[in-house]
Amino acid sequence: MTEPRGAAAPPSCCASRRQLLRGAGAVSLVGASAGLVSACGGSPSASSASTAPDGAVVVPASDTAVGASTYYADARVIVSQPEEGTFVAFDSTCPHQGCSVSDTEGGELLCPCHGSRFDPATGDVVHGPATTGLTALDVTVEGGDLMVRG
Ligand code: FES
Repeated sequence: MTEPRGAAAPPSCCASRRQLLRGAGAVSLVGASAGLVSACGGSPSASSASTAPDGAVVVPASDTAVGASTYYADARVIVSQPEEGTFVAFDSTCPHQGCSVSDTEGGELLCPCHGSRFDPATGDVVHGPATTGLTALDVTVEGGDLMVRG
């Protein structure tokens, strides 16, 4: 399996999103490049996230279509829009061994390391080896942006 175009390799197998956000917060208002993957079968393309002064990851709501998911590699965040106007976000750190859940297949989020699959709407594990789901993050809509906080 290959890494999506525009997505960086996971910076560390064991670095959590929280750790990365702290690092990103140290350079607040400096945009972080990110890759995105569309869960509805679109080809991966480059996108970007930025960091608010309080450390929130800021992404355009328009990045994620209804029924799709977007993966932000540097922030290690996945955003999904399961129903129109309803956004959910997850820490992309796989609960199995810490890889970043960066792919999709068959409408599910897929960890490229050992094949765990997760429901893009709930983050629940659908198929192991992971035994627990992804960690949900808070999402608020502000204008056309999503503010994602852990
Ligand atoms: S680290 Fe994700 S399935 Fe093993």
